[in-house]
Amino acid sequence: MDRLAAASARTYPGGMDPDPSLPASGPRVLFVCLGNICRSPLAEAAFRFRAAQAGLVAEADSAGTGDWHVGEPPDPRAIAEARRHGIDISTYRARQVVAADFARFTHVLALDTQNLADLARLAPSGASARLALLLDLVPGMAGRTVPDPYWGGAEDFMRTWGEVDAAARALVAAFAAPG
Ligand code: 4NP
Repeated sequence: MDRLAAASARTYPGGMDPDPSLPASGPRVLFVCLGNICRSPLAEAAFRFRAAQAGLVAEADSAGTGDWHVGEPPDPRAIAEARRHGIDISTYRARQVVAADFARFTHVLALDTQNLADLARLAPSGASARLALLLDLVPGMAGRTVPDPYWGGAEDFMRTWGEVDAAARALVAAFAAPG
């Protein structure tokens, strides 16, 4: 079983579709945290960056389980952290995850275990998307959450970048691997 399938199976035994085949248009990945202004925009940015580097055709988006920041740009500290890596996320806008996302995306990846539990409640029965914890995709980090940097400082956002970028690299490698 590939790492993506293993992550889904570990979280939802017998739940989501274990078929690792992807649509011809490539994977469509949704990253989900609480507010969609700190962690998931950085995860989206890192994945877009690493996919482009690898020549992987993929779609990416991010959303929050909460609605407090809908329509807002990412937190200024997240924008600054992305900019340190040469990436502009200032045009991203927060949105709340909706049930239709489980059909629109091939993979819905939660940044922490609370997000994962909330998503599992929201997922329609028979949803086609594979739902997993983001760090389950990173060797040695299975079961770990990406801590929320919202109440922290710039160094916490640096740590967030390190974690979501490791996940982005692992994700791109998994999608690019044959079979
Ligand atoms: P995020 O961080 O889930 O990584 O976007 C948060 C942003 C805002 C809040 C909580 C977490 N908030 O309570 O407003």
